[in-house]
Amino acid sequence: MILGISGSGRKNGITCDAVKAVLEASGLEYEFISLSGKKIGGCISCLQCASDNVCKIKDDWLTIGDKMLKADAIVFGAPNYYGMINALGHACMERTYSFRHQARFGLAGKLGVIVSTSYKGDNVVQSYIEKMMFENKMVVVDSVIVRGYSQCYSCGFGHHCGVGKVVRDHGFLEKIEDKHLPLCFEDQDDSKQQTYKVGKILGSILKNRR
Ligand SMILES: Cc1cc2nc3c(=O)[nH]c(=O)nc-3n(C[C@H](O)[C@H](O)[C@H](O)COP(=O)(O)O)c2cc1C
Repeated sequence: MILGISGSGRKNGITCDAVKAVLEASGLEYEFISLSGKKIGGCISCLQCASDNVCKIKDDWLTIGDKMLKADAIVFGAPNYYGMINALGHACMERTYSFRHQARFGLAGKLGVIVSTSYKGDNVVQSYIEKMMFENKMVVVDSVIVRGYSQCYSCGFGHHCGVGKVVRDHGFLEKIEDKHLPLCFEDQDDSKQQTYKVGKILGSILKNRR
């Protein structure tokens, strides 16, 4: 089973769409989880996991961590917030600390695919997820960088906000029209091609492993 996780705070945002596209393209059985609305705290360094590799913090991560352990591959996507991975995505990855004590690595050998989303289309989040997969001794198959949304287009004030992305990219506007909006995932042909390609490769590797 392939587990797809979107770390975005938005349930139907671009990260969700891109992770789902990879899962679909694999042609294999998968489960998709959005972290949106989930209560996931960061690691608190209590070390209660050191003896048995089981995190003792009682929140929504426990179920997700369990699914990560059962999966053959993990497609992990997260957005860039302020030049780094968003807090939910970070907390989810940080808690995998519990999997790696006494030279036992619960995620070792599992395949990983990285989806990183940002308004600018940069690779900041990709590097972080790659590091975390590496720390868990996972095998990174490939990564996809997707161009994200800007909240300034829907906050209601973007057309005349001097510090927002709308004015920066289009100047002051009477109103925001469809032609001004950033491309949604469905309209990003290059991103769709890339997710399709990566999903196919992931599916092919997993089929050959069986
Ligand atoms: C609090 C916050 C901070 C953000 N900071 C950045 C940033 O520094 N650089 C950037 O390129 N995009 C930034 N973004 C834009 C997100 O990366 C973009 O909206 C992305 O599409 C979010 O993923 P989603 O569509 O899955 O929700 C930020 C968004 C939020 C909500």
